[in-house]
Amino acid sequence: MSERLALHGGEPVRTRPFTSGKKVGKDELKELVDVIDSGELFRWSGTKVGEFEKEFSALMGRRYAVASTSGTSAIHVAVGMVDPAPGDEIITAPITDIGSVIPIIYQTAIPVFADIDPETFNVDPADIEKRISPRTRAIMPVHLFGNPCDMDAIMEIGRRHGIPVIEDCSQAHLSEHNGRYVGTIGDIGTFSFQMSKHLTAGDGGVTITDGEEYGVRGMLFADKGWHRAQFGPRSYTLLGLNYRMNELTGAVLLAQTRRAREIVEARRKNGDLLTQLIQDAPHLRPQKVLPGCKTGYWNYGMVVAPNAPFTADEFAQAMGAEGIGCGAHYIGKPIFLCHDALREKKLFGGSSFPFDHPNARQVHYTEGICPTTEDVLNRMVNLTMSEFFSTDDIEDMAKAIHKVTRGLA
Ligand SMILES: Cc1ncc(COP(=O)(O)O)c(C=O)c1O
Repeated sequence: MSERLALHGGEPVRTRPFTSGKKVGKDELKELVDVIDSGELFRWSGTKVGEFEKEFSALMGRRYAVASTSGTSAIHVAVGMVDPAPGDEIITAPITDIGSVIPIIYQTAIPVFADIDPETFNVDPADIEKRISPRTRAIMPVHLFGNPCDMDAIMEIGRRHGIPVIEDCSQAHLSEHNGRYVGTIGDIGTFSFQMSKHLTAGDGGVTITDGEEYGVRGMLFADKGWHRAQFGPRSYTLLGLNYRMNELTGAVLLAQTRRAREIVEARRKNGDLLTQLIQDAPHLRPQKVLPGCKTGYWNYGMVVAPNAPFTADEFAQAMGAEGIGCGAHYIGKPIFLCHDALREKKLFGGSSFPFDHPNARQVHYTEGICPTTEDVLNRMVNLTMSEFFSTDDIEDMAKAIHKVTRGLA
């Protein structure tokens, strides 16, 4: 006999609030005090942004780290590093934040979306390969919810076609793929430090690479193209923006970088425990983590089975009634359908640029071009995951999942 669901007037599994905590504290304060004491808020006159770049690149084992103001700017810096021409294409993922897509368009390139693998929710390498054209200038997989993409297959495709790979690790700080951190497998890796991310300064970003040409180009791109080593008349060597991180942000991220492993491991322990506790829950499947990979559970993604006796909305509503906040459908639709102006290809002053550039191929952003993505989003449900949750919190989440999947069946 299943217990009566809270949705139907039964006792909720959880009435107490979940364990929470502050993401910043005395470590960040100490670094911030240094900045205020020094009076230097600008990265080129202070030290914290430089120290952050040095420590983050050392943690990642990459030669170059370019700090910037957001995950979106970090991706723009990466796109600036590969330097597409108008009408060139960058293949990316259809389940992501619009911050993965905007920089491609601002750099006059065209986003092309590969469909996903229904189990990992990440771009399917075989579908990436199908969408490669003579204009493909980069491949940009997104490690969704911290779950590493199939990087062996993606790198093999990139290398075979001579196309660089940019990893969007905005949600995947210190996620691992066969013993390597994501962001260090492709040619370039990008990270967001927006408030919801594992490491945060409210907003911020960083782009990492081992390639000297990319590293130097990225630093210039984020600093208006200004070659500061050269004195005398100003020398702007490329078209760039001011994406410079300031010292206050750098100070916070320096402290966060030093705690990165601890933060990610705590969250991973919680997510892995939940996976273990719900493995036999019927009609529900957690996001599959590939063998040899470790996710960081930016959030906890699952899909309701195609023939389940309940929908994603019904599951989320029943979980909510049990006192466990649960979202349904994540971004709702493939990202290209979420942006009206992109769908209509009218982005700059009502023109169709760059889609009407003579070098551009015709692309369409319509329903049906990524069918697996649409199906998975229809069935997707997400739970919040946090490094602050206690074992007791995770056990209650699991209890509610078992109760709801039985009770709705
Ligand atoms: C996968 C992904 N890419 C890019 C971004 C953009 O990052 P930001 O919001 O820091 O600009 C985000 C942030 O939500 C993201 O989750």
